[in-house]
This record gives sequence, C-alpha cells and structure tokens, in this order.
Amino acid sequence: MKIGIGNDHVAVEYKSIVRGYLESKGHEVVNFGTDSLERANYPEYGEAVANAVVSGEVDRGIVICGTGVGIGIAANKVNGIRCCTCSEPYSALLSRQHNNSNMLSFGARVVGIELAKMIVDVWLDGEYEDGRHQVRIDMLRDIEARQRR
Ligand code: RB5
Repeated sequence: MKIGIGNDHVAVEYKSIVRGYLESKGHEVVNFGTDSLERANYPEYGEAVANAVVSGEVDRGIVICGTGVGIGIAANKVNGIRCCTCSEPYSALLSRQHNNSNMLSFGARVVGIELAKMIVDVWLDGEYEDGRHQVRIDMLRDIEARQRR
C-alpha cells in the first residue's frame, strides 16, 4: 500500500520509527514532514496528508502529534476524510470495518511505540464490511455537502 505520513515537531523521531516499520512490511511511504524539531503547527501536516488521500496520491494516511487529536481533527476537516484517533487496536479495526476510515491518527505522547505498531497492523489489515454501514458513510458525505452550501 502507498501510505502518506505526517506529524508535528513532537513526533519526529516517533514518526521515523513508524515509517521504518511500514517500510519493513513492504509499504511505500510518502513523508509529508515535519522532520524538524522546530515548533510546527499540526493542522498543516494533517491537511497535507488528508489532501493526498483525497486526491488519490496515497491510499491511506497516518498522522501523529502529541495526542493524535489535533492532527486528526485537522485531517477530518478535509472533505472525504474519515480519520480515526486511536489509542488501542479494537477501535482501529472497527474504524476500518464499520467507518471505512481512510486515515489514522495517534499520539506520540500517549501510545507506546510497540502498541502503535499493533494499531497500525490491524488498521492496515482491516477490511471495510460495506452493506449496512454504507448508508452511514453516505450520510457523512451528505453532511459535507450541506456544509459546502
Ligand atoms: C503540541 O504541543 C501539541 O499541542 C500537539 O502535538 C498535539 O498534541 C495537539 O493535538
């Protein structure tokens, strides 16, 4: 899979570990930064990865900040993004099966790196179940359409 990855200054080293892990599993990773420890603003990186997902430049996106919350909120502002902020694998899996999540966020200050790898694994392997869930995904699209008016 081709995966976009982005982060703020809090998660530079952590992101490198996640990136290396993804590459070791055979995924292609597109890095949207930051790779600097200078203070950075998470909305910029959340939006960049989200745009890459929506445009089809990458298949999925993973974004990381201190808590995973801010960068996840930023990603979810982009139409077509369903970003799940996760601290454990169960929600990550269900976000794929039920919500067809196309982005994942977590917090470098919250989730230990080995747990993060487990979350990433189940999220990447999880299959959208479609069927009864699609009506709800369509409703999310309807919300976006109403916001555009
Ligand atoms: C940066 O200090 C911090 O606010 C950011 O990494 C993130 O946790 C925001 O949600």
